[in-house]
Amino acid sequence: MKIGGNANSLSSYCGAEVFLLERMKKEMIRLEHVTKSFQTKDGEVHAVKDVSLEVREGQIYGIIGFSGAGKSTLVRCINLLERPDDGKVIFDGKNLLELSDKELRAERQKMGMIFQHFNLLRAKTIYENIALPLRMMKKDKQEIDRKVMELLELIDLVERKDSYPSQLSGGQKQRVAIARALASDPKVLLCDEATSALDPQTTQSILRLIKKVNREMKITVIMITHEMLVVKEICDRVAVMENGRVVEKNDIVPIFINPVEEITQNFINTTNNTNKINELIEEKHPLTQLAPDQQLVRLKYSSSNTKEALISEISRRFHIDCSIVFGNVEVIKDAPLGTLVTIFTGTDENIKRALDYTREHGVYVEVMKRGHID
Ligand SMILES: Nc1ncnc2c1ncn2[C@@H]1O[C@H](COP(=O)(O)OP(=O)(O)OP(=O)(O)O)[C@@H](O)[C@H]1O
Ligand SMILES: [Mg+2]
Repeated sequence: MKIGGNANSLSSYCGAEVFLLERMKKEMIRLEHVTKSFQTKDGEVHAVKDVSLEVREGQIYGIIGFSGAGKSTLVRCINLLERPDDGKVIFDGKNLLELSDKELRAERQKMGMIFQHFNLLRAKTIYENIALPLRMMKKDKQEIDRKVMELLELIDLVERKDSYPSQLSGGQKQRVAIARALASDPKVLLCDEATSALDPQTTQSILRLIKKVNREMKITVIMITHEMLVVKEICDRVAVMENGRVVEKNDIVPIFINPVEEITQNFINTTNNTNKINELIEEKHPLTQLAPDQQLVRLKYSSSNTKEALISEISRRFHIDCSIVFGNVEVIKDAPLGTLVTIFTGTDENIKRALDYTREHGVYVEVMKRGHID
């Protein structure tokens, strides 16, 4: 007697369940048609145009774009450091634009923020920098001491508590800024290019700390960045900004498998080398010279659909040859995402059936060049 489904249907069932659980999570931030312009001597600058997005509790949400795309303005609209001209900013169930100054101050305390250049007070010690928000909240001395020491432990800088910012490295300064942002027990951490001034190794350690803060302290994170590597490393979802607009948004695995907009594709290509194939095709490189019965195909797959040896299976089933030109495996959200550039050799009909079969198995398929056309 057969009990339950096979391994594939089980994994897709679990996938559906994870998806449902994600959907059920509470909404933390919702932007509705947010618009912000600045008047300058050269005229009006439309920094943010009609942006709507939703961030769920516990998510790490990336916002990526080139310089001037409007990322910082958008994140400043979230905590109303900039007041949008139009739209709604719903935070934890409240429209911030409708609150009194006092109510707004209370909501703002639930949002910590860190910046590219750390913004620490030079004349104050590390301890005092972290204590600052607590002093402003008029907490008593004992509570301040307990909280600051706990945060110093978290950022692993207990011994440096009496140092001054100028005596610390960039990575250490950013750790202190993170501790200061966490002092008021926020629900959300807004990070504006938090790793842009840091070397790759220090960037990794700050990203690990942000991930730890997210997972262990259950703090929702918004990561503004111009680096797809940062998004790839820790984000659950990403919005791509261009000229003030969000042009594409998606969860991280689907956006890496199938980016729709050119700007998204360009960002993703910065994290792997498989786009090199486009250059080779353009240069008419010998690797891309095809016989009439050949097609150059890019395949992308994630862990959930790599269980079967699909390539050898389609070879057998559809009487075609598949040779791999090159491949790449990245790890995204702790799961592999593979890209293979392959040459399929066979009749048009067989290749078409093989590609349909491959698609049906959840692999993203892109025919990049056909032999008989050139
Ligand atoms: N206070 C301001 N006054 C006038 N123009 C502004 C102001 N703040 C931002 N802008 C303009 O709005 C646009 C978006 O700027 P913003 O700083 O949000 O971009 P960004 O994506 O954060 O860029 P970067 O990656 O360089 O930080 C730019 O054209 C910028 O010059
Ligand atoms: Mg900016």
